[in-house]
Parts: sequence; C-alpha cells; structure tokens
Amino acid sequence: MKTEGIEGTERFLSPGKGRGLRALKHFKVGDLVFACPAYAYVLTVNERAAHCEFCFTRREGLSKCGKCKQAYYCNVDCQKGDWPMHKPECAAMCMYGENWCPSETVRLVARIIVKQKVHKGRSPSERLLGLNEFESHLDKLDNEKNEMNEADIAALHHFYSRHIDFPDKATLNELFAGVNNNGFTIEDEELSHLGSAVFPDVALMNHSCSPNVIVTYKGTTAEVRAVQDISPGDEIFNSYIDLLYPTEDRNERLIDSYFFECDCKECTTKSKDKAKMALRKNLSTPPEPEEIQEMVRYAKNVIEEFRRAKHYKTPNELLEICELSLEKMGAIFAETNVYMLHMMYQAMGVCLYLQDWDGAMKYGEKIIKPYSVHYPPYSLNTASMYLKLGRLYLGMEKKSQGVKALKKALAIMEIAHGKDHHYIAEVKKEMEE
Ligand SMILES: C[S@@+](CC[C@H](N)C(=O)[O-])C[C@H]1O[C@@H](n2cnc3c(N)ncnc32)[C@H](O)[C@@H]1O
Ligand SMILES: [Zn+2]
Ligand SMILES: [Zn+2]
Ligand SMILES: [Zn+2]
Repeated sequence: MKTEGIEGTERFLSPGKGRGLRALKHFKVGDLVFACPAYAYVLTVNERAAHCEFCFTRREGLSKCGKCKQAYYCNVDCQKGDWPMHKPECAAMCMYGENWCPSETVRLVARIIVKQKVHKGRSPSERLLGLNEFESHLDKLDNEKNEMNEADIAALHHFYSRHIDFPDKATLNELFAGVNNNGFTIEDEELSHLGSAVFPDVALMNHSCSPNVIVTYKGTTAEVRAVQDISPGDEIFNSYIDLLYPTEDRNERLIDSYFFECDCKECTTKSKDKAKMALRKNLSTPPEPEEIQEMVRYAKNVIEEFRRAKHYKTPNELLEICELSLEKMGAIFAETNVYMLHMMYQAMGVCLYLQDWDGAMKYGEKIIKPYSVHYPPYSLNTASMYLKLGRLYLGMEKKSQGVKALKKALAIMEIAHGKDHHYIAEVKKEMEE
C-alpha cells in the first residue's frame, strides 16, 4: 500500500531494535519533526469536569452529558464529535452507576475497537506504522502479565459487551499487549496525568536514555520536537521512561515494560550514575559497599510501598513515610541522590495536595538544581518542576523568584512544546499579572 509518509523521515529496520524512524533531513533543536493526531484516546476519570472529553481543552464551565452526567464538553460540537466514542461508555456508566470501574487501558481498548469499526483503512495517525502492526511481544509475557491481560479482557466484556461487538479472544489478547507496549499517557505542563492514547506513528520511534526528540501534547495531538541536532541518516529516538534513575534501574524498567535492554550512550558509559547515587560528603567513615547496597534496597522498597500506600493512606501518613525514609536514607545518601529526590518529589506532591505551599516550596527548592544535573538539558521533568516552583512563588507573593523560575521553565518549553503552544502563552500571562 502506498502511503503519504512523514516528510523528512522514513521508517527503516534498526539493527537489534525492530522497526524505527530515521531522519532524511537536518532537524535543529526546537524543530517540529512531526505531529500525530491520536488514533484513539481517553480522558482520565479524575480530570472529568476540568477538561473537555473530546478536545481535552482545560477550562471552567464545561457542559455535562445530559445522560450520564459524567462527561463534560466545551459545546455541542465537541459533544457530537465525541459521541461515537462516548456512546458505549455513556450507556455502560448509566447501567452500572457506582459499580462502573474499568481500568483506563480497558476504556482505551474499547475505544480502539469502536474506531476500528467506524474507520476502515489507514488513518492519519498511521502514516508510517499501523495499529495492527504493533509489536506486542506476546510470546514473552510471564504469568503475571498474562493474568493481567485476562483480567482486562474480562473487564472489557463485563462493562462493554452490551454495547460493542468484540473480536475473538486471541485478537483481544494481542491488542492489549500491543497497547501496553505502544500506548502513551498524556500529561499536562506540570506532568499531571490527563489520559491515555495510541499514536501509532509516534510509537514507531525506539527508545534512548539520551533522546533526540521530546513528545508533547496539544489537545489530543502528539507533537514531536528535536531536542538535539539531528542529521540525515540519524535514528530518531524518544525516551519511554523517567530518566532520573541510574542505568540499572532504567534497564529493569525497560526490560519489565518493553522487553529490551538499552544500549544507548548513557547506558554504556553510565556517565551520570555516580552523581545520581551521590553519598553524603561529611561522613567520618565512608560507608561500606554492602551498606550502600542495603540502603538502595531499602529505598526501592519504600518507593514501592509509597506507590501502594497512595491508594489507601491519608496525606499525613504519606508525608510521614516520606520524612522517615528521607531521614533514614539521609544517613548515607546526599540530598542530590535520586532516591532522596524521588521521596522529596512525592512529599512535594502531598504538600501541594494539602495546600501546604511552604512545605511544597521547600521540597521544590531542594529538587530543582539536582534535577537540572541528572536530566538531559531539555527535560519535561525539569521544566515542570520550574513551573510548579514558579507558580508557588507567585502565589506566595515572591514575584522576582517566581518570574525567574518561570523563565527557566519557558526556556525549555519553547523548545519542547514550541513557541506557539498555548501553555507558553498561559505562563507568560501569569508572569505579567
Ligand atoms: C514502541 S515500540 C517501537 C517500535 C518497534 N521497534 C517496532 O518495530 O514496532 C517498542 C519496542 O521497540 C523495541 N525497542 C525500542 N527501543 C529499543 C532499543 N533502544 N533497543 C532495542 N529495542 C528497542 C522493543 O522491542 C520495544 O518493545
Ligand atoms: Zn472541547
Ligand atoms: Zn454520557
Ligand atoms: Zn539507555
């Protein structure tokens, strides 16, 4: 089949990495490489009422769906546009009421199935890679992952079977595995989770821990911009994971979620690992390697414990986990150590939730410098931390500090999001006010 392709790029076979995307021309830092509308997407339940379900616009005074009273829209056009996707969910929500609780992946897959029915043939999101070509690694799934797939398929049938005709079990299994390996989450400028989506062409890009592009979102469209100079012939790499952590941790995550080990420059030279694992300087006796290992094990356990605790503990109990673990790790880890930063980031999140602006600011101030060292020069994590901090300062009447932090955020966002992104206009307005 002859397809349009994406100007300045081509699909190719990347040795050891499957298919990939390659540049055919020069892209300089900040250039838009391509944009890709979502093939299917879903707004996360927690952001209902704050964002339009159809176009993801964030504003007050959206109008509710008259039937389910759960979905919100800018206007009748957005509601009509969303109806084919919302219809089965609307009916299911009306039917199940409080018991309606499919996972976000199940909701997304339901929409993909509806989309496949209404849109035959290749969509504008599939210029280089079709959704039905997704690498699913089905043969590599362990028992736990197979059981999760089974549970997702059961939930899909449970919540949607009256409203959607499903393909057979094997096709569904492949679809869930494909979405797990190729799906995206959509975040806002502060990296708050907004939803999940599939962008097939964006999924063609392989991973590097020193990526030469960044993906941002404008509504439900993904935009890919260069954050390093890219020459003709270069492979175009995105990052799949949070790049804060040391090489070993990153690769555990890549193997577990994407079934490969990374061979990028960062992973071979491990040049940032030492700073990421920094130890306290003023210790009378340096810690033994076993003691460090033991503390890393403890840190990883706390991170996991906290992740679970978020679902059932009170904010104050969560803060206590953060503070206790920071004290314990602080016996040998420096404040710039990534495990310390991880817990400070969590603590900052809880403080923001509790509207403890002072607490949030203190954590943010400790996080921001080491972030700019550990992350690549253009990083959404660093930008969003400057943004949060800048907004905190402005809210606390610390104008000059606020403007300074927001300028740092803007310098990154103008490259990653593009100068004409509405986030940029919003931040500039906040600075003027
Ligand atoms: C989102 S897909 C990327 C496109 C994929 N190469 C394909 O042919 O469909 C993710 C999969 O690509 C492969 N992959 C991505 N980055 C890689 C890398 N740096 N090294 C090896 N394999 C990689 C892995 O198989 C991974 O599960
Ligand atoms: Zn809208
Ligand atoms: Zn509805
Ligand atoms: Zn790597």
